[in-house]
Amino acid sequence: MILKDNFGRVHDYVRISLIDKCNLCCSYCNPDNSLAKLSSKYSLLSYEELYRLVKILTVNLQVKKIRFTGGEPLIRKDIMSFFAMIYWLKQKHHFEIGITTNGTHLCDKIEDLLRFGIDRLNISLDTMQKNKYISITGADYFDSTIESIHKAIASGFKSVKVNCVLIKNTNDDELNDFVSYFKNFPIELRFIEYMPFSGNKWDDLKFYGWEMMKEKIEHEYILKEVPTSGKIAKMYSVAGYKLKLGFISSISNHFCDTCNRIRITATGQVKNCLFSSSQDIILKKLLADYTVSDDTIAKAISEALKSKWSVHPEVDDLLQLNTNNMMSIGG
Ligand code: 5AD
Repeated sequence: MILKDNFGRVHDYVRISLIDKCNLCCSYCNPDNSLAKLSSKYSLLSYEELYRLVKILTVNLQVKKIRFTGGEPLIRKDIMSFFAMIYWLKQKHHFEIGITTNGTHLCDKIEDLLRFGIDRLNISLDTMQKNKYISITGADYFDSTIESIHKAIASGFKSVKVNCVLIKNTNDDELNDFVSYFKNFPIELRFIEYMPFSGNKWDDLKFYGWEMMKEKIEHEYILKEVPTSGKIAKMYSVAGYKLKLGFISSISNHFCDTCNRIRITATGQVKNCLFSSSQDIILKKLLADYTVSDDTIAKAISEALKSKWSVHPEVDDLLQLNTNNMMSIGG
């Protein structure tokens, strides 16, 4: 069985949120810490349930890539023992594993993550200035995040990406500082358009589109487009340097036609689009029940894809939706 929607899009990439809590309160995601209502540990998918889920996805549904997100996944208790369990599965059934993290609790885990077969790390960093970092995130983890990024780059993961959400009058003045700082590293630096979610105080005056970002960088660097097939980021190489740039234009230029992903929240709800409400199936109950077969659960997940829309709504409509926050979906 494969995961295919009504528009023929094959879904072989699943993002799973491991926890709906974060240790930062970023101004664009969790301002005022208003979203910090952590589900009790009893409503989160347990590690056993998550293990079963990953097995069903990768074996029964032929998913090729799993990305673990949060909240902040690395603050979940005993997280490394979970990655050790998943490594066991990965050795038998081949699939790629990525983690999206804010980098604050990463540094001392890097060797083990590599050892447990993690292929890809995406690390968030929205400013190159320590003071601004504190004002955006509400906490002082700038130095440890930078240290984690350098250690990750030096460690030999298949890919390391740095994610920067671009917000007008907050960090748009730093586009070229980012490029200049990372230009000699073999990573992808991704500038992400600011997206509206419930409670994140989105405002179109804060919006900075990807073409403007690119134009600003081109004042100082020569960019060459790198052809990508079905990838969400428009990718560019920076002439003379190792760095690649990615622009994620979810708002100004959606990439729904090549969407190959679904999301599963920390409590086990399936979201067939970043902006959709959850589908009806309650995975936690099914995963905990061993009288229900893996195949039945696989069919239920596949059913949740049937209502996927062909294109996500436009910004004005997204602003009306009150069903989403990044803390439970994880990007
Ligand atoms: N708009 C764009 N990106 C966001 N992220 C979190 N909230 C938003 C938003 N409102 C990013 C994080 C991380 C990724 C998972 O999603 O910074 O890089």
